[in-house]
Amino acid sequence: MTEASKLASLAIEAMSRAYAPYSGYKVGAALLCADGAVYQGCNIENGSYGATNCAERTAFFKAVYDGHREFTAIAVCGGKDGVISDVFPPCGICRQVMREFCADDFRVYLVGKDGVCTERTLSQILPDSFRPQTHMQK
Ligand code: THU
Repeated sequence: MTEASKLASLAIEAMSRAYAPYSGYKVGAALLCADGAVYQGCNIENGSYGATNCAERTAFFKAVYDGHREFTAIAVCGGKDGVISDVFPPCGICRQVMREFCADDFRVYLVGKDGVCTERTLSQILPDSFRPQTHMQK
């Protein structure tokens, strides 16, 4: 099994944990840490819509809480009622959370229909990004 297919199946599994009573869109993510640990995440919606947490951030926040700070790759999938009809690319806020912890070559697998993965890097999906590590130095 390739890295992409392993993470894709874990992201698909995570999608079933989504709490999405408002949009009906279930999203799953599987985040690979540099030491090989994998964290899964799902979207968790809220009746005050802006309080919703995306699947990617759920995975990152679980991992960071557990002490992880270095990450290699993430797979993301989603769709209405958990049916994947197309790729479900990370939103802008999740991309910026990736930027906080990940290098330019962090791999993002967009899981599409039939589990087919499109591979991107963080620098491809978030070019010219704000980097706290460099832009906030004196
Ligand atoms: N969503 C994610 O979980 N990840 C993203 O990157 C984009 C959007 C969720 C939030 C909301 O629960 C649903 O998808 C529809 O916007």
